[in-house]
Amino acid sequence: MAQLSFTQSSFQHIRRLTMGGMMLAALTAPAFLAACSPEEEAAQEQTLIAPEGRPVVLITGSNRGIGLALAQEYASQGWHVIATCRKPEAADALQALAVQNPHIVIEKLDVTDRPAVDALAEKYKDMAIDVLLSNAGISGGDVQTLGSFQYDAIDKVMAVNVIGPLKLAEAFVENVAASDQKKMVTITSTQGSITKTFGISYFYRSSKTAVNMVMHNLAIDLKDRDIIVSLVSPGMVDTDFMKGVPLPLIPAEQSASMIYQVVDGLTLDKSGVFLNHRGDEEPW
Ligand SMILES: NC(=O)c1ccc[n+]([C@@H]2O[C@H](COP(=O)([O-])OP(=O)(O)OC[C@H]3O[C@@H](n4cnc5c(N)ncnc54)[C@H](OP(=O)(O)O)[C@@H]3O)[C@@H](O)[C@H]2O)c1
Repeated sequence: MAQLSFTQSSFQHIRRLTMGGMMLAALTAPAFLAACSPEEEAAQEQTLIAPEGRPVVLITGSNRGIGLALAQEYASQGWHVIATCRKPEAADALQALAVQNPHIVIEKLDVTDRPAVDALAEKYKDMAIDVLLSNAGISGGDVQTLGSFQYDAIDKVMAVNVIGPLKLAEAFVENVAASDQKKMVTITSTQGSITKTFGISYFYRSSKTAVNMVMHNLAIDLKDRDIIVSLVSPGMVDTDFMKGVPLPLIPAEQSASMIYQVVDGLTLDKSGVFLNHRGDEEPW
């Protein structure tokens, strides 16, 4: 494990923010630090500080698929990225990205582990988070066809896709409120649209409909704090999630870049709206 050491000049770069009327130094505690070379350790140490002027995003499920591409996109746009995933020790692609970019911090987080969400929020309690990005999601697998439902699966799908984003939002609301951009974004799906549905995928569709309701509700509750809550569908994206689906798919990098643009353009009057990756409104 790397030793933490802060020079005077390091402290000059610590982002300061006002929370509860107090000026606080915004430091992240030691993040996931794999055994690495002195050069890599030096790069990792820099990630413990969100430098002045660099906006902060926290992303769930950022070890692969759209989440990984979002971590890459935000980092390349100059953001400080708190990239969370269930198994940092196995997140090879994300670790490689973090070695290249000292402003990516990897944190362990299973979104269904509510004490762990609270612990992470406690660790980051002094850091403003401009965009809280709930990306982690599961399909529930091939057990949701009428006549062969496996009902245990729906509990897991709801825990990850609905309760996960809700708990994350509750735990990190003060971080978002203390930020400049004040955005909470959930990656949803047009499969959650009651207007557009065409059958099958009962558990997954229901979970995305439910998270749409949860976030729409949250948008109303948080509007007077100027927090923008948004639902963005990523398009049909070439990830493990869509493996074997015989439809035209877009690369995860393209989806992430489009999501970035949509999130960048969000305004309070659009809070609670269901958007797609092109920024168009989708029907509930
Ligand atoms: N791909 C598409 O076409 C498409 C379309 C519409 C919506 N979406 C939505 O986009 C989001 C990302 O999907 P994707 O295509 O990138 O899928 P993916 O490649 O299967 O990646 C899913 C991610 O979620 C993580 N995850 C699963 N359960 C988790 C948990 N309990 N806690 C934390 N992380 C967890 C996975 O981590 P592990 O590696 O640890 O499993 C992985 O990082 C999902 O919300 C999905 O519903 C995707």
